[in-house]
Amino acid sequence: MELVLGIETSCDDAAVAVVADGWRVLGEAVASQADDFATWGGVVPEIAARGHVGALPGLVERALANAGATVDDLAAVAVGAWPGLVGSLLTGVTAAKAIALRRGKALVAVDHIEAHLAAIHLGRPEVPYPLVGLVASGGHSHLYRVDAPGRMTLLGGTIDDAAGEAFDKAGALLGLPYPGGPQVDQRAAGGDPKAIRLPRSYLGDGSLRLSFAGLKTAFLYAVRGPQGRQPLTLSDAGIADACASFQAAVVDSLAGALIEAAQQAGVTVIAVGGGVACNRGLRARLQAEATDRGWTLLMPEPRHCADNGAMVAALGYARWKRGEVADGALAPLPTGRSGPRRRA
Ligand code: KG4
Ligand code: ZN
Repeated sequence: MELVLGIETSCDDAAVAVVADGWRVLGEAVASQADDFATWGGVVPEIAARGHVGALPGLVERALANAGATVDDLAAVAVGAWPGLVGSLLTGVTAAKAIALRRGKALVAVDHIEAHLAAIHLGRPEVPYPLVGLVASGGHSHLYRVDAPGRMTLLGGTIDDAAGEAFDKAGALLGLPYPGGPQVDQRAAGGDPKAIRLPRSYLGDGSLRLSFAGLKTAFLYAVRGPQGRQPLTLSDAGIADACASFQAAVVDSLAGALIEAAQQAGVTVIAVGGGVACNRGLRARLQAEATDRGWTLLMPEPRHCADNGAMVAALGYARWKRGEVADGALAPLPTGRSGPRRRA
């Protein structure tokens, strides 16, 4: 059994996990600051980073204790090193370096977006590659061809906002607490998805481009009047309808683009990751589409779709096996290692 410690601190959550052989989760510990940031309406980077500094030592201890392991048992220490908020990333990278270098363990740097799709390995000893994966999170809504963990080619994605950001804005417009995504999801369950007509960003032109900026504006006008400046007068039922309508538009776009991308790539295995993959509407829709086509859908359980340490350990394991290790010069990069990804 080869154990990898995964550390994830790219945004407002600090998460640590111990994963065996790249797929079996043995122990996890998470410190979320989401409640603290509800009062601010969003993440304050400096506060997030300071929170991680306080939380990390205890999280590492707890994840190891839950796994019944010690640092000596680890084969490698993996850390999400890019992209993300640089101060937040720095706390995880520093913790990983301290443990790995002090205790003579391999240090592995992991890309956060690649890790979201590596989460499909958790709980699953074999993953059928190649596949087409969608990462839908607060900062990304992109489609990739994936040939192995972390071996990804960009196929398309949003040309403006990310789906998660759009969900959060929709929630804020409706006066719901931050983060809006889970709130909209919850209220959508009781609403009519056809109540408000909203544009679909997926153009169906085969380009695999997505856009959520126009949808956001259309939604603003629909709930706050033609100038978007009227007070919000929706009843609870009206809010539920607005949530259901908004969610349906995002789900149509994401699911349509993922299926089109898989068809273009000629694969019948699709995967999804990132916080938006927690969305019940998206999960149900993808499940139905996959079942209809006889395709394989790989969808991590919700806690491994949102930011988590286990996905970092899963990708870290694959990279360590391939000899892709880092050294003490490792530094976080807010925008990612390769900048804008090469298109296929
Ligand atoms: O992957 P993630 O945890 O962090 C980033 O890498 O950004 O994604 C966070 C995003 C937020 O925008 C949040 O509102 C959204 O995922 N999200 C959801 C749901 N749960 C989280 N969006 C829609 N429905 C959900 N259930
Ligand atoms: Zn994420």
